Amino acid sequence: MKIIHAKSYADLSRKAANIISAQVILKPNCVLGLATGSTPLGTYKQLIEWYNKDDIDFSQVTTFNLDEYVGLDPADPQSYHAYMRENLFDHVNLRKNAVHVPDGMVEDLADACKRYDALIQSHGGIDLQLLGIGKNGHIAFNEPGEAFEKDTHIVTLETSTLQANRRFFGTEEDMPKHAITMGIRMIMQAKKILLIADGESKRDILNKALYGPISAQVPASILQLHPDLTVVCHVEDKT
Ligand code: PGA
Repeated sequence: MKIIHAKSYADLSRKAANIISAQVILKPNCVLGLATGSTPLGTYKQLIEWYNKDDIDFSQVTTFNLDEYVGLDPADPQSYHAYMRENLFDHVNLRKNAVHVPDGMVEDLADACKRYDALIQSHGGIDLQLLGIGKNGHIAFNEPGEAFEKDTHIVTLETSTLQANRRFFGTEEDMPKHAITMGIRMIMQAKKILLIADGESKRDILNKALYGPISAQVPASILQLHPDLTVVCHVEDKT
């Protein structure tokens, strides 16, 4: 495990973007696992900036996102489909058919989960997986207490997750209570993992995840067993 302490959020974003950029340079047809949330926004912004300077080329890259809310149309501005379009996909030369976000609108969700895993496997698995960490230790939407060996599946979101993400929705009633998420088994199969954490509010959970016992109560703690984990964090009081 490599832990890189960033000086600021901007520094974290540049460092994370550098690692992703290096992956794309070393393997132009790589498979990237992508995350949503507040933390990756600066990373995506930096990647777009470098793309505009012709420093990074996504033309051969394939991407798979970690999760999506159940019941939100991909056109819904709160969906993770929309987040990805707005914050990355619409601004770089990723091919339209090379970007994948789980579909939370299909009738047969169990089948959609199986197909998502099969599609990732058919691309040879994920080369570099970008991850955030929830305040409750979740990675993607794998909430505390879930089995580590799960594949893509449907989850009921924890109250703390609903509260953390409520800021993106009008009212709590508007918020989907379920999500489709890549499972920990697939995340752990990624060849490399890049975990990013920003802000004082992530300090305790990051310590538990990286140095505490490996426990399903802290889903991110399983990452201690990954052979190629890089953590870029900015969890100091000062910004
Ligand atoms: P955040 O979310 O980047 O918005 O803090 C992280 C997560 O819940 O995985």
